[in-house]
Amino acid sequence: MARLTDHGLTDGMNPILVLGGTGKVGSRVVARLTQQATDVRIGARRTGFDWLDQSTWDPALAGVRAVFVVPLDGATLTGEFVTKAVEAGVERVVLLSGRGVDVPGYGRDDNTTGLTHVLGEKAVRELDIAWTILRPGWFAQNFSEGFFAPAVQAGELRLPAGDGAVTFVDAEDIADVAVAALTEEKHAGETYELSGPRALTMAEAMDAISVASGREVRYVPLTPEQFIAECVQDGWSQQDAADFADVVGAVRRGLDAHVSDGVQRALGREARDFATFASNTVWSAVPSPWRDGRPST
Ligand SMILES: NC(=O)c1ccc[n+]([C@@H]2O[C@H](COP(=O)([O-])OP(=O)(O)OC[C@H]3O[C@@H](n4cnc5c(N)ncnc54)[C@H](OP(=O)(O)O)[C@@H]3O)[C@@H](O)[C@H]2O)c1
Repeated sequence: MARLTDHGLTDGMNPILVLGGTGKVGSRVVARLTQQATDVRIGARRTGFDWLDQSTWDPALAGVRAVFVVPLDGATLTGEFVTKAVEAGVERVVLLSGRGVDVPGYGRDDNTTGLTHVLGEKAVRELDIAWTILRPGWFAQNFSEGFFAPAVQAGELRLPAGDGAVTFVDAEDIADVAVAALTEEKHAGETYELSGPRALTMAEAMDAISVASGREVRYVPLTPEQFIAECVQDGWSQQDAADFADVVGAVRRGLDAHVSDGVQRALGREARDFATFASNTVWSAVPSPWRDGRPST
């Protein structure tokens, strides 16, 4: 029977918990489920769920039928969390992992983000309930909502990516696949590697954003050493800077240039193109240091 919840009238089934429900992928999953009249519970610090405070896990999991797990990078807590989820009666888990986890030499073995995903996937595969793993490559939305947004807004993206190309995936596609996996039986046991339909170098991606936004954004290739030094100067720890340089190194070495078939396999349609992302993004709505069409100093 339908019932009224914080999110309006829903289908009357137990809620789906969306960890990272305020982030780039999770917020889009929440929007889609709400649109479908599914009762959703958002798991993020601002709603009282903290990966680093286990006393918040049980309340988040109480009465939930399925969970979208956006892990906490650098922590290895996914295994403990999904075990608790099963104990709480959760019937389905969909894990957001990352492309490259199964590629030897993609990153250093001790890279903490890589470890989060490698150990998280292992734990999810061992569950006795339905599970699906999503392995997206680089998100297009990193440029508009994520860690590259300030650089793009300032008109200059400085990275140790060389002329490596990336098949950027649209977070809208990741969310479409996540919702399908959370609500349809047929995705159980599947691992979906997700990418966009074509590879762009960082320079080509900045060109596409320049065209769509009407403001010039350029790519400046750095050596890993230059990049780490700039990050540390900006207040990053040496470890975080080295980890991030390591992740970008996979792009420089050409390991993110291939097209993956996950969107097609999961949804039976093509993945969205980067140009569509660039033109769908309202660049002027992103807080920006630009004035008069030029980066301000
Ligand atoms: N970006 C990429 O290109 C890319 C590519 C492949 C894989 N991935 C993987 O995708 C995942 C990130 O997804 P995303 O980009 O959608 O994330 P995001 O936009 O950075 O959002 C992170 C979410 O996690 C929540 N969060 C942060 N710290 C938390 C904590 N201590 N406890 C509970 N919640 C916390 C945040 O909400 P609050 O701040 O409100 O807590 C937010 O909802 C990572 O595991 C990453 O490795 C990313």
